[in-house]
Amino acid sequence: MKRLLIVSFLVAAAVGVNVTYDHRALVIDGKRRVLVSGSIHYPRSTPDMWPGLIQKSKEGGLDVIETYVFWNLHESVRNQYDFEGRKDLVKFVKLVADAGLYVHLRIGPYVCAEWNYGGFPLWLHFIPGIELRTDNEPFKAEMKRFTAKIVSMMKEENLYASQGGPIILSQIENEYGNSDIESRYGPAAKSYVKWAASMATYLNTGVPWVMCQQRDAPDPIIDTCNGFYCDGYKPNAENKPTMWTENWTGWFLSFGGAVPYRPVEDIAYAVARFYQRGGTFQNYYMYHGGTNFGRTSGGPFIATSYDYDAPLDEYGAPRQPKWGHLKDLHKAIKLCEEALVATDPTTTSLGQNVEAGVYKTSSTCAAFLANIDTQNDATAEFNGNSYHLPAWSVSILPDCKNVVFNTAKINSMTTIRRFVATSFRDELSYSKAISSDWSYVSEPVGISSNDAFNKQGLVEQINTTADQSDYLWYSVSIEIKGDEPFLHDGSQTTLHVKSLGHVLYLFINGQLEGRAIGNANHPDFSKDIPVTLKHGKNKLDLLSLTVGLQNYGAFFDKTGVGITGPVELEGLTDGSAVDLSSQQWTYQIGLKGEALGLNTGGSSLWVSGSPESQPLTWYKTIFDAPSGDYPIAIDFTGMGKGEAWVNGQSIGRYWPDYIAPVSGCSDCSYKGSYSPTKCLKNCGKPSQKLYHVPQSWLKSSGNVLVLFEEIGGDPTKISFATQELESLCSRVSESNPLPMEAWSQDKSTRKSKSKPRVSLECPHPNQVISSIKFASFGTPQGKCGSFSHGECQSTDALSILEKACIGSRTCSIGVSTTTFGDPCIGVVKSLAVEASCA
Ligand code: GAL
Repeated sequence: MKRLLIVSFLVAAAVGVNVTYDHRALVIDGKRRVLVSGSIHYPRSTPDMWPGLIQKSKEGGLDVIETYVFWNLHESVRNQYDFEGRKDLVKFVKLVADAGLYVHLRIGPYVCAEWNYGGFPLWLHFIPGIELRTDNEPFKAEMKRFTAKIVSMMKEENLYASQGGPIILSQIENEYGNSDIESRYGPAAKSYVKWAASMATYLNTGVPWVMCQQRDAPDPIIDTCNGFYCDGYKPNAENKPTMWTENWTGWFLSFGGAVPYRPVEDIAYAVARFYQRGGTFQNYYMYHGGTNFGRTSGGPFIATSYDYDAPLDEYGAPRQPKWGHLKDLHKAIKLCEEALVATDPTTTSLGQNVEAGVYKTSSTCAAFLANIDTQNDATAEFNGNSYHLPAWSVSILPDCKNVVFNTAKINSMTTIRRFVATSFRDELSYSKAISSDWSYVSEPVGISSNDAFNKQGLVEQINTTADQSDYLWYSVSIEIKGDEPFLHDGSQTTLHVKSLGHVLYLFINGQLEGRAIGNANHPDFSKDIPVTLKHGKNKLDLLSLTVGLQNYGAFFDKTGVGITGPVELEGLTDGSAVDLSSQQWTYQIGLKGEALGLNTGGSSLWVSGSPESQPLTWYKTIFDAPSGDYPIAIDFTGMGKGEAWVNGQSIGRYWPDYIAPVSGCSDCSYKGSYSPTKCLKNCGKPSQKLYHVPQSWLKSSGNVLVLFEEIGGDPTKISFATQELESLCSRVSESNPLPMEAWSQDKSTRKSKSKPRVSLECPHPNQVISSIKFASFGTPQGKCGSFSHGECQSTDALSILEKACIGSRTCSIGVSTTTFGDPCIGVVKSLAVEASCA
């Protein structure tokens, strides 16, 4: 009997479902669906993190997980595929299926994504006659081969919904139709789009394909929208549904920039507006951003953290209240699903900047009431009732009567997490078995390899290194005979260098004399570096670096890097200059330490000690993993720039000494249109000082940390930091909607006497609320971490909260005068709480 059951389950599981679409929605197994999706890029976390990320996505109310497929990760060498470890796409897709969620597989294979070279393998660039992303035979052959490879891998594993798997959608190309892209490729662009569409369709996945930002996407491909807002988007044919493939939950961080964030009230507003105006599928880009390990970040200058201010933070923890408020939003939208898929919305104006979107049939009705004014709250009459609508907010009424959610009123709790430092030394003294010693190897300045080569003039970097390394040495010697004009006045002169970027170090006779750095907007630079030359032969070694290859823009693949020239000695007393650009230069790709594999910590070259502030130094130490189950980062304060490896795995480029501009950060309001520079934090501080060390890369002791430091720093200052919870907070007003649990699918079963509630929960299952740091019922001020009492407050809020919460993992308490008494009759009151867990 048991065996029979299993067999029939397997048969059932393997049965494919039909995924089609119509004007209103994606149709899965004959049913139109309203779907909420979120991006998680599998290589930006580790396989042991995947189940947790997927589970938290499911709890957050997602139906679909979206990921790009990263071509250069899987085929860094032509025809040699790699799907191991973090690259195990099939495993990732299966884990999503195990959680009961769908997958949107955006194959690209151009993906942008702040990923090195937009996801293209470098070898593409060297195929004779190739032109990327246009109607070019060599390119199309490669694109087709890789796309077909991925599709057939998925088919072999039965992963398409048509085969009983989770994949309900696929994407081909990426934002090719953007105004700054397609038009630049001329007439061949149109035929390329047509070709890509038919190539994809021909692969016969049994599920629909989309092209994002492609207004002319050929049938049957669905054109979809990307942006901070996509309400009002209409696909290019009546029979296609309105879909939003990238709703940017924040923005990416660049080295040298401040940290962007996007308030959840604005994201919720954008999502609600989208569903109000006819949308049925939207995807958060990113739901979990994660980390650009190794040299995977694009750019140039994309930072190692790809946190993105996403609902799940870089380390995988729910970012609250973002995660929780969106979860409530998703429930509200699902309560409207029946009405949403039944018909198109009718839009009516309820006053200036106030608008109702109503989905109504004979059996069902759902409404969205929006106040799109950026400043003023409004009161609107709808169906005979009066509704207060805060500025820039949408209320959702799944029965066209009761407001279950307003985008600007947050019921979810807030958490403050912080990184607590533990220095290596302290950590190591706990465990006596390991020494705290550092050892080092000095990287030779200039040419050290037998593979170095000579060439007349200056070379372009990407064409030279093929991105085998960030580093390219340009070396030249000049002879000072003593009769040159510039030596009359001591030996000071200036070296003028022009480079396409991204970073340059100048060594004269082995000494670091200066550096030049581009930035995300201007990777190139032109710099005058004062230099001191001696009589006789002088060695000029210029180390040119890439910091992630460009990932966006028409012909991005052809944007050069490196020293283009002129390189000249200037400031001669007679006004003349010596141009070195067309001299014979010696080149070396990469570093000696890279060739020796020092990153793993092996080799007999390590010398004990840790010289401070030496440029071009490899450092190594052995360490114990920090205790506890917390996410771990390394705080690189005290170091300059370089790359770091833990047990041979690269945790990415580190660069704590690139400081964000002091200005540009100010308190930002969620009201009004968002843009990537609207809300920034961390001005005047390192763009990134904490770097994620995945727990699965560590053992309890004997871990090897290797750094390559370019500029000079003090490795003994490096510390661990573990992410811990500082506070749980909530502030809920009497005027907030009821908690989502008070509403059920069956609208008649709504609990009648419910009140808005404050609910707290310690994120760790084995923790309980240990103290109430603040509680006030009345008119509390401030925000989580700095609440204060307002003019009106009940006297016993603190003791009531302590009684209800301390010792429990969760607690929930009604925001009501029945519980707290009424400290100020006639005033709308709130309950604010800050608690800690232990
Ligand atoms: C979009 C692109 C994504 C990502 C995003 C910015 O244009 O499709 O891949 O780069 O911008 O994070």
